[in-house]
Amino acid sequence: MDSKVVRKLFLDFFAEKHHHIVSSAPMVVKDDPTLMFTNAGMNQFKDIFLGNTAAKFHRIANSQKCLRVSGKHNDLEEVGHDTYHHTMFEMLGNWSFGDYFKKEAIEWAWELLTGRYKIDSSCLYATVFGGDDADALPWDEEAYGYWSQILPADRILKGSKKDNFWEMGDTGPCGPCSEIHIDLRSDEEKELLSGCRLVNQGHPLVIEIWNLVFIQFNRQADGKLSPLPARHVDTGMGFERLCMALQHVKSNYDTDVFKPYILQIEELSGVIYGSNQGSDVAMRVISDHLRAVAFAIADGQLPSNNKAGYVIRRILRRAVRYAYSYLNQKDPFIHRLVPVICEQMGESYPELLHQQGLIEKVIHEEEASFLRTLMQGIQKFSQHISANQTDKTIEGTFAFELYDTYGFPIDLTQLLAKEQGWPVDMEGFATELEKQKQRSRQDAAMETGDWVVLEPSTDTKFVGWDTTSAMVRLLRYRKVNIKGKDYYHVLFDTTPFYAESGGQSGDTGYLLQNSIKYRIADTRKENNLLIHILETLPADPYSTFEAVVDSEKRTLTANNHSATHLLHQALRNVLGLHVEQKGSFVGPDYLRFDFSHFQKLSEAEIRQVEMFVNQKIRQNLTLNEHRDLPLEKARDLGAIMFFGEKYGETVRAIGFGESLELCGGTHVASTGQIGIFKIISEGAIAAGIRRIEALTGTQAEEHIEQKLAALRQIGEMVKNTTDPVKAVASQIEHSDQWQKKVDELSHKLAHVQKEHLLATAQMVGKFRLIASRTDLDPQTIKDMAHMLRLNQQRLVMALASIKDGKVNLSLFISDDIVKDHLLNAGTLVRELAREIDGGGGGQPYFATAGGKKPEGIDTVFKRLKELVAGL
Ligand code: SER
Repeated sequence: MDSKVVRKLFLDFFAEKHHHIVSSAPMVVKDDPTLMFTNAGMNQFKDIFLGNTAAKFHRIANSQKCLRVSGKHNDLEEVGHDTYHHTMFEMLGNWSFGDYFKKEAIEWAWELLTGRYKIDSSCLYATVFGGDDADALPWDEEAYGYWSQILPADRILKGSKKDNFWEMGDTGPCGPCSEIHIDLRSDEEKELLSGCRLVNQGHPLVIEIWNLVFIQFNRQADGKLSPLPARHVDTGMGFERLCMALQHVKSNYDTDVFKPYILQIEELSGVIYGSNQGSDVAMRVISDHLRAVAFAIADGQLPSNNKAGYVIRRILRRAVRYAYSYLNQKDPFIHRLVPVICEQMGESYPELLHQQGLIEKVIHEEEASFLRTLMQGIQKFSQHISANQTDKTIEGTFAFELYDTYGFPIDLTQLLAKEQGWPVDMEGFATELEKQKQRSRQDAAMETGDWVVLEPSTDTKFVGWDTTSAMVRLLRYRKVNIKGKDYYHVLFDTTPFYAESGGQSGDTGYLLQNSIKYRIADTRKENNLLIHILETLPADPYSTFEAVVDSEKRTLTANNHSATHLLHQALRNVLGLHVEQKGSFVGPDYLRFDFSHFQKLSEAEIRQVEMFVNQKIRQNLTLNEHRDLPLEKARDLGAIMFFGEKYGETVRAIGFGESLELCGGTHVASTGQIGIFKIISEGAIAAGIRRIEALTGTQAEEHIEQKLAALRQIGEMVKNTTDPVKAVASQIEHSDQWQKKVDELSHKLAHVQKEHLLATAQMVGKFRLIASRTDLDPQTIKDMAHMLRLNQQRLVMALASIKDGKVNLSLFISDDIVKDHLLNAGTLVRELAREIDGGGGGQPYFATAGGKKPEGIDTVFKRLKELVAGL
């Protein structure tokens, strides 16, 4: 069964059972500080489970792109070594939000697998939760009961908390689960050993395909379980594994989902899949990781040095290292597989096709730069191995050095060490890492307490598009500790405060009651929760407050936000429609805009962009705000949308003249308010991504004024305020001429000095020696040495200049003496320099040294004289 049919059958089946089919959420999570990537289909419904948001549909099904590489669900280590774990995979899921529960979930799963996909029921096993004392949870008798209507008792197994109690992360919705496992071994093998002995034992052909989770609890920050207001179903089936079962192959990589990558890698590398264990692992790793990285980039997450970006960088580096070691790819290689993923998945995920060029470029650049450091690091690693043959351990400090200096992810160091049969001191590494974290303090963990509920609802009405103050009541609060300081996260029933999102910084301001002000230091979003960050909690949280936004900051931010839209429009106008927003920051002080474009902007282009924006400002275009615009209508109107964003059925669009963008931010009423727009920098931040920083209004004015003031100052300095540029140019020309004259004169001087010095030469043995103090400058001495070299023989000259307690020694030895191997100025000067407490070097005929002991110079001359006498 073709994988496209497999996916369709799933969705059609649940549509028949009255499920609403939704699209996949982005793989990169933007509004949940507890999660970097979507690790399960249920993530996008977290707030519904927790009761924070009401469900629009009570039954939903979809296919979700997931990434399991960090936090609680991390399969990275397994990937490639086995044939059924992946970093990025698709999860087929069906959900019930307070609707059906265990019975239907189990019966429908069975109906679909055996009735529609026609899987032989004798290969299937079910597991149920066996209970847990620590959490005081009984075993799942109910699920067992439903399964026993379907399966014989020996094919229903009880499982531990590890396997049969599903949790999204350290906190959040969770519950007991029932898994369906499939035995894909041959009949002979089954005969020898029953499949029930292999369930959850890591056998590559007896694997879990579907997990049915019965969400009933919330795991709190204090580790306790609290029951949820309603009971839900969350199921997840591994799409690639299901394809393996239905296509009767023994590995996910042999399905039509993965085969095309393997074939292309074979073609590009000339290595055959199946010929060697090492290269097989490498091919699987590369196929898997390419998908993860390409989707992350398409979702807007570029590889970088921290957080989600670093996870992506690590995945790509892992692939590069396998290609390097096992497929002998010493040059960037993985980016050449991007066309395969576009061909394979572009139809279901058009964001890939749209950004193909960018994905290729980013991967290529990452590969190239990592290969460079990899070479250096691998060299360092081999040196270390040979130098530490006694310990035969990779110490934590060295692993950390590789990590910190050579960009080796720790798993890469482990891999290299494993090849040598050496262990890595992981504890030592963790200690070093921890030390570094403490040093930088950037990643300071935030400790979050549990919510204290004042009112049951968590719905906040946002009124900030229309006003900057409102009467509010508090719904709930929790204490958080950031870098040792306590804050409170507070939810209001109504709020005029804009929560940081879409690049716009959060509002600040205060809560007011009986003329006491409680400062609101920031406003953030966590999924759908609008969180106000307060330093102190009001004495009576149950009363009513006036919430007041700092409106001056808000106005400045609005100027910058609206200017960002105009800038986006200008860039697409001036540079072309390939320009796409890749990130932005809009605060009260400035704006930053990242976009895809492959070259540096010329001065002329920058001017054109500025002129375009300033023209739109002068046209004083009024804000055209569409609230609740159906998504399709917005598309028809040509609104700019972003890939990697999930939009609701209705959206908000912001228009100024021709510019129309989907946006939730706060904007100016008309563009004239922005005043003026000025770009202050333009540069690259990654392959194919450029960044512009710009100012508006007063800040732009101040910036321009500063530049003009500097120009005025220069004018005054060059005594020409009307055309300082011309004056500076003529000064430079003048000074060049002077320099030329000075050079000529010092050359002449060197000539005269040379004659003068030659006259003072003494015969010492067979040679002439000049040894004296001088006040000539180093350049003149050097010139002189050049001249002497041309026509002097049997000459040794040492000149010492003393200045500010320091001495400079120059030593000249004529070529004939050097040729006869009698003396060499380079080596000799080093030796003599010891007498003046210094060091030096140079060429055989001319060398110099500096020293801190001027009084040693007489000894230098004396020793030189003895040396020459002895030649
Ligand atoms: N949340 C469960 C899982 O990820 C079922 O979807 O396995």
